[in-house]
Amino acid sequence: MIDKLWRSCCKKRGFRYKVALIIVGIVVLFYLLIIILNVIESNLDEDRPFFTIHQGEPKDEKLPILIWWTPFTGDSGSYKQCGQYICYFTDQRKYMSDPRTKQACCSNIFPFLLAFLFYGSDFKPTDLPLPRSLTHDWGLLHEESPKNNFLFSMERVMKLFNHTATFRRESDLPLTFQYLESLDSLTSQKYFVPTSVKNEKGKTLAPLVYLHSDCNTPSERDSYVEELAKYIPVDSYGKCLQNKELPSHLSDPLTNMISPELFQLLAQYKFNLAFENAVCQDYITEKLWRPLTIGSVPIYYGSPKIEDWLPNPKSAILVKNFESPKQLAEHLLALQADDTAYEDHLEHIIKGQISNKKLIDAMIDREWGINNDPAKKSFIDCFECLVCKRVAENYKRELRQATPLKFQATFEQYGCPKPGSNFSLKENSPNWWPELYDKAVFEARAMENLIRRGTNYTSTDFYQEVINLLENSAVR
Ligand SMILES: *[C@@H]1O[C@H](CO)[C@@H](O)[C@H](O)[C@H]1NC(C)=O
Ligand SMILES: *[C@@H]1O[C@H](CO)[C@@H](O)[C@H](O)[C@H]1NC(C)=O
Ligand SMILES: *[C@@H]1O[C@H](CO)[C@@H](O)[C@H](O)[C@H]1NC(C)=O
Repeated sequence: MIDKLWRSCCKKRGFRYKVALIIVGIVVLFYLLIIILNVIESNLDEDRPFFTIHQGEPKDEKLPILIWWTPFTGDSGSYKQCGQYICYFTDQRKYMSDPRTKQACCSNIFPFLLAFLFYGSDFKPTDLPLPRSLTHDWGLLHEESPKNNFLFSMERVMKLFNHTATFRRESDLPLTFQYLESLDSLTSQKYFVPTSVKNEKGKTLAPLVYLHSDCNTPSERDSYVEELAKYIPVDSYGKCLQNKELPSHLSDPLTNMISPELFQLLAQYKFNLAFENAVCQDYITEKLWRPLTIGSVPIYYGSPKIEDWLPNPKSAILVKNFESPKQLAEHLLALQADDTAYEDHLEHIIKGQISNKKLIDAMIDREWGINNDPAKKSFIDCFECLVCKRVAENYKRELRQATPLKFQATFEQYGCPKPGSNFSLKENSPNWWPELYDKAVFEARAMENLIRRGTNYTSTDFYQEVINLLENSAVR
């Protein structure tokens, strides 16, 4: 029939060819349109800001409840929209034992789905949401170094979590640039003091400045700086190794650490000593970014792969590249006398150039801002939404009996090594950090054993288990 129609309408071969071409054209256009609509939709989805859409008790049983087990956001309960998903966020633990959250096997009523969020510094092995059901995802937000808690340096502890936001590039929401405001701040000359002026200032100021008030750290930075200062002058304003007073209006470190006057003071120095409190992959703080943004060269000790993130290869002088404090001092004294060589380290400010594409891309991709940037979300919002999207997606899959996605954190998503005592050049150094780490090894094992039993446990149970493990290891 169609065949007949076709032949009767389009006798000529050329005409048939044209019709065929038009049909193909329409089909292609149709698919193009679908692709374009999809792209627009997914973009809308990403750009849609998430917002609180309901405050008060949770209502909709098909939406996940995410409990901040360690209260952190001050939000006692609200629904938030994250792209196309909605979750209920709360810091009220009571929902854990709400009858509606019980696994309702074999009933048509779907229970609320639960997930738990933890802030690392407040995480306690004796206070966990147990027993843990298979559907209980755990999320870890921890932007700090292991100074407060060595548990996350243990693989068996990290594997308890499903979603992470830590300083590591490997984490689900990397917070590596938690102290870098923007790329522009790295090329701005706002605080920059030209080398000729620095040379003039050098008649009264030391070439190096040190500003630290936390004097006992896993990295033992003070031991190193003390030795370095034997070979090159260091002005030290903080409580550690102090030999200079900050001007009185700057002496309150809490209110003044980000004050423009402090930046101006530090910018007069050719070099700023920038030592992190712990040596961890990607744990990078304002100690590095501050000298970079004010145009003084950081002498850096901290993240072992810091080269990956420097604006230019020479933007920092790395302590690890020198055999001894003495050798580093000799190198700095040589630079001190050679303006051209010195300025090679400041290309990002003097030429306004950042050559590191990895750094540029990472900063462009970063969705969150710092210092309460009104144009951006905070990393806490972004982490909440990351967990919400993953949990809600899996919930949807469960409802239609599709295989859920697996999410499992790994050692590399935090994983700081045991603190070494490379800098304790003195004998009998009072470095107790390695001991704290060793203690955490046993705590992690105890925690894992007890969680596996599938019941909740008391702190007495926990410490008894730690003691048992310690005794067993001593016997062996
Ligand atoms: C979350 O982590 C736990 C513990 O490792 C694991 O048993 C569970 O399957 C994980 N959940 C998902 C959704 O992958
Ligand atoms: C300590 O020194 C050893 C050998 O010199 C080196 O392999 C290790 O990376 C150093 N550790 C730190 C934390 O710098
Ligand atoms: C375990 O949880 C139950 C209720 O969920 C509670 O009654 C009991 O006291 C808890 N036990 C421990 C050891 O915390």
